[in-house]
Amino acid sequence: MINTENNFNSPLYVDTLYQGINSFQWQELFDIVEKKGFSAKRHALFTGQKINQSENRAVLHTALRNLSGSPVLVDDQDIMPAIQSVWRQIEQCCNKFVGITDIIHIGIGGSDFGPRLVCDALWTDDSLTKTPVNVHFLSNIDSADLARTLARAKPQSTRVIIVSKTFTTLETMQNAQSVIKWLTEAKLTKTQISNLLYAVTANTSEALTFGVKDENILPFWDWVGGRFSVWSAVGLPIALKFGFEAFKKFLAGAHAMDQHFLNAPIEQNQPIALALTLFRNQLKRGSKAQAIIPYAQSLNLFPTWLQQLEMESNGKTHGLDQKPVEISSVCIFGSAGTNSQHSYFQMLHQGTQVVPVDFIAVKAPLSDLPCAQEHHRQLIANCLAQSQALAKGFQHPTDQNQSYSGHRPNTLIWLDKLDAYNLGALMALYEHRTFCLGVLYGVNSFDQPGVELGKKLAKPIDQALANPADAELLEVFDDITKSRIQWFNQP
Ligand code: F6P
Repeated sequence: MINTENNFNSPLYVDTLYQGINSFQWQELFDIVEKKGFSAKRHALFTGQKINQSENRAVLHTALRNLSGSPVLVDDQDIMPAIQSVWRQIEQCCNKFVGITDIIHIGIGGSDFGPRLVCDALWTDDSLTKTPVNVHFLSNIDSADLARTLARAKPQSTRVIIVSKTFTTLETMQNAQSVIKWLTEAKLTKTQISNLLYAVTANTSEALTFGVKDENILPFWDWVGGRFSVWSAVGLPIALKFGFEAFKKFLAGAHAMDQHFLNAPIEQNQPIALALTLFRNQLKRGSKAQAIIPYAQSLNLFPTWLQQLEMESNGKTHGLDQKPVEISSVCIFGSAGTNSQHSYFQMLHQGTQVVPVDFIAVKAPLSDLPCAQEHHRQLIANCLAQSQALAKGFQHPTDQNQSYSGHRPNTLIWLDKLDAYNLGALMALYEHRTFCLGVLYGVNSFDQPGVELGKKLAKPIDQALANPADAELLEVFDDITKSRIQWFNQP
């Protein structure tokens, strides 16, 4: 599917021609979507019904970018005034943070990947006036991440934003405490520290208890999933770095994709096409993984963001009906082309597994250097060549090692240029793909119970590591974990 005349208001072009699907097969796929109750489920998503059944929550990241002015109801209450009030808070922060040298954004998972990706991706957009502030993303509990961040920031002119939906996440709270200690050691008073501390959270009371001032808390709500939260105040650093207008453009691009997803006929609907092609490759080709290859250095973090979005949403063994599902999330991996060509493309071309690929390419060059056109032409030539090689292959008359099977399905997504608007659309495209895949698999895409067990088990292990002399603490573990703890605790 590549339709440049009528894209049904999508800012992007999705070309599935190398998926090798004929019109009869497409129709079969569209029938499957309809049989899964897709239209009713999409309606439920946009109208605030509690489709996250296990947590009894609505799923309304689309409301965060609803620039239409129309109300969105949750439990009969219009949530748009609360969202608009946070937009004003974000704009105020942009006006207030003048003269600030550093922003330390502390968060992990959905409270990190989205804003980190966008801040990295938009640095090549020359139409944006970038503020001189340095934005540092601090996520890992590994103190090496903390050390690197603190070495780069000036305590006197730093603002710290603690970003956590729950405000209880171990890594984020530990890093926040350590950053506050660093500020204290730099001789900032309690009042100074409390003035520079901000929180973005759905747990306001916990942020207040932590010591963040009421007026420095930017709320979001339980109907925003962490991995869908970049459109909320979680995206504050985007506005701080590139301006509030750029943030609004980012929302506008996503809103345009929402409208496309809602209104385009199923045969022209881009998120549905992406979901169906992957689903088909899982069923027909036994694909267990998918490579996402942006031919744009600025989108190098895109596959990392998508990994959480897709795998945390759809990596599930059981469906909404508690029954085992046949298939669910593939393993998502990827990195920027052309670098990725010199890494795992051998396996994509000749490996025994069929790994479908989504290529993402940008029409306009991503720098203004005099040589940019020449570089860009070669970049795009490589993207198109890889796509063709995977699909068409090559048969050597005598040497199997020089032969390529072809019939390796891949899709090409074109952006006219990489700006805030198109990036918003691209991320929303994949959010909706994740939703469509969840419908096809029959899973709840909006909870993540599978991440809890490891977190729970880390607590007694941490206690045993902290108290090596207390042999009783070891009794609760299996022999393997026990011997590992003992090894670590040896002087
Ligand atoms: O990895 C589990 C998870 O709950 C993610 O879903 C979430 O994005 C991340 O942790 C961070 O959570 P929070 O924003 O509550 O700190």
